[in-house]
Parts: sequence; C-alpha cells; structure tokens
Amino acid sequence: MKALVLCGGAGTRLRPITHTRAKQLVPVANKPILFYGLEAIAEAGISEVGLVVGDTAAEVEAAVGDGSGFGLAVTYIRQEAPLGLAHAVLVARDFLGEDDFVMYLGDNLLEQDLQELVRRFQAERARSVAPRLGEGEPLLPAAQILLAHVEDPQRFGVAELDAAGRVVRLVEKPEVPPSDLALAGVYLFDSRIHEAVASIKPSARGELEITDAIQWLVDAGHIVLAEILKGWWIDTGKLTPLLEANRLLLEQIERRVEGHVEDSELEGRVIVEAGARVVRSHVRGPAIIGAGTEVSDSFVGPFSAIGPKCVIQHSEVEHSVLCGSSRVIDAGRIEDSLLGYDVEVTRSARRPRATRLMVGDHCQVDLS
Ligand code: DAU
Repeated sequence: MKALVLCGGAGTRLRPITHTRAKQLVPVANKPILFYGLEAIAEAGISEVGLVVGDTAAEVEAAVGDGSGFGLAVTYIRQEAPLGLAHAVLVARDFLGEDDFVMYLGDNLLEQDLQELVRRFQAERARSVAPRLGEGEPLLPAAQILLAHVEDPQRFGVAELDAAGRVVRLVEKPEVPPSDLALAGVYLFDSRIHEAVASIKPSARGELEITDAIQWLVDAGHIVLAEILKGWWIDTGKLTPLLEANRLLLEQIERRVEGHVEDSELEGRVIVEAGARVVRSHVRGPAIIGAGTEVSDSFVGPFSAIGPKCVIQHSEVEHSVLCGSSRVIDAGRIEDSLLGYDVEVTRSARRPRATRLMVGDHCQVDLS
C-alpha cells in the first residue's frame, strides 16, 4: 500500500494567505495542516508516499524534505497545473504502479484513525477473495470512499447510497445535492482507478474529477465501498473551517511550559514553547505561544495559536491563528482572525487619528 498526497492546486479561498504560500502549509495549532496527514499515513504503517506538487513545490519540499522526519520515503510528483484530483492520479501513474493506495488531500484534516480505514479496505478485499459456496466470481472492491454528513453539500462531492449502503451515484458540487453525504478527502483505490482516470472527460469547471472517476468504477460494475466518518473532518480551505480545526486540535493539547514566564498567569492547557517569553500577561488555554514569541502586558485567550517569533504587546488575542513573525501592538482586541507571516497590527499616536491600512488583494478587515 502506497499513499498519494495532493498538495498542488491554487488555494483561492484562503487568499491572500495562499497568494504566496501553499494552503496545505498554513499552520493549525502551530503545525502545518499537511503534517497531520503525513503523520496519520506513517501511523497507518505506510511508508512510500508520492507528494503531488504544483506552483508551491519549493515551499512544500523545504517543509517536508525526503519525508524521513515522518518515517516516510517521499517522492515528489510535479503536476504542471491544477487540472483536477483525477489528473493528479494520472501524473502519478509511474509512482503508483499496480499497488493499492490511499489518496489523501493535503488540505483535509480528520480525527478518525487512517489505519482503521486502511484495515477495513484490506479486510473487505481479503474477505471477497475467499471462496464462497454457491456464488460466482468474487467481486473485489475497487475503491473505498469516506463520507460525512454535512450541512452544505453543495461545496463538496456528494454520494447517493442505495438501501444496502452501496454507492450508486456521485456528483461533484451539485446545485441540488442528492444527499447530505459529502466525500471527505481520503480515498482508497486499487489499480483499476488508472483505467477510470484515463477514461473520463474534464468537468464543467475544467477539471478531471476524482468523483467522476469513482462514478466510472461504479458504472463499470466495480464495487465501491463507503464508510461513514467517525469524529470530525475539516476541509481547511476557508477561514471559518480553519479556525474550527485550530479549535479542535487545541482541545487536544497538554500543558507544557518550556519558555520564560514572568509575573503572568497561565490558565489551563497552555503551551509556551522554548525561547518564548510571557511577561505581565494572562494566557487562558487552550492556547500555544510559539518559540521565540514575546507576549507582554497582554491577554491571549482560548483557541489561540500564536506562531513563532511574534510580538504581542498591550493587546488581546482570542480564537485566532497567527502564522509567525507578526507584531500586534496596542491593537485592542483581536478575535476570529488569521494573520499570515510578517503582519503588523499596531496603534500609533499619529494625528489625525485614523485607521491606516496597507492590505493586499482579497483581504478582509472587520472594524469594531
Ligand atoms: O475536501 C473534500 C473535497 O475535495 C471533496 O468533497 C470533493 O469531491 C473533491 O473534489 C475536493 O474538492 P475541492 O474543490 O475542495 O478540492 P481542492 O481544489 O481544494 O483540492 C483538494 C486538494 O488537492 C488540495 O490540497 C489541492 C490539491 N490539488 C487540487 C487540484 C484541483 C492538487 O494537488 N491538484 C489539483 O489538480
């Protein structure tokens, strides 16, 4: 079993953060989203990983390297343009060979154990090859998808199941969804998917959809298993789900204080990384203060992930992600926010008193 992890794509919905950076590397609870997936793959006992990369290849490679830090052997596979998830399978043909594989979308986060999903696929395949009396040729499942009940199925690939729970129809981002069951970004395939991705045509949005390739398998009479997700799953491509993922992951942290804390109160599950300083401040967990960050005369509230090398002075930050190297000074109270790298939010005594902005394209500024 191999893994194919998708890190290409354009990331339009997290602009401006992803104008310059890979959306899969945006930190959640101070760790890039992609790393959670790679760790889950290693825990599932898979070591050979193909990482599909596009324009942000250099950045992804700098972060992941050869994969040995995760116990993985990573092969980089270049996709010239984000032409769809099924196109990513096409370009990975040589790497995948005839092996079964897990396809994992690099911007998805899920609570459920990947190992459990892999085992289920393997067990179902083993069971179906065992001789069964009175039955014809055994049918080996060709794929397994993971489904989640969602409130906004229009944003996803959507599956329709029959009474026996078998997949009968799949549609990508339907205007009128046939169910509320969205496809989560973890798929298991055997080598029959290669014929499927080579047989389909681009969708209306110009992409080779993996959803259509799976539909092709169904139409060709192959068995596609469906599993209903346990626990939470988040496609982090937008601000609100990203903050939600940050909240869910911070819920799991344990208190650890390795940095310098002076005249301050740390309440509950707070991580202060080595080299961080918290002075005359109040940090209410769950929250993380990254390495080399200085918090002074400030309040950092629950569900805040403050990345490395930030400065927070005379300010309040809550339910927010600061990626790193940002300065928040005399800024009042900041909530529900995502700050990229090297951002400055400061209050000056300059006259006339005014809000002065230098913000790039696609930014949002919500004034109190
Ligand atoms: O998150 C689950 C959803 O992911 C599914 O419900 C949909 O059926 C599936 O099509 C996909 O939809 P998205 O529109 O959210 O996919 P997105 O463009 O965000 O790409 C998902 C990941 O794959 C992301 O890490 C970027 C990467 N990617 C994407 C494309 C289109 C590639 O590596 N290459 C590509 O060509």
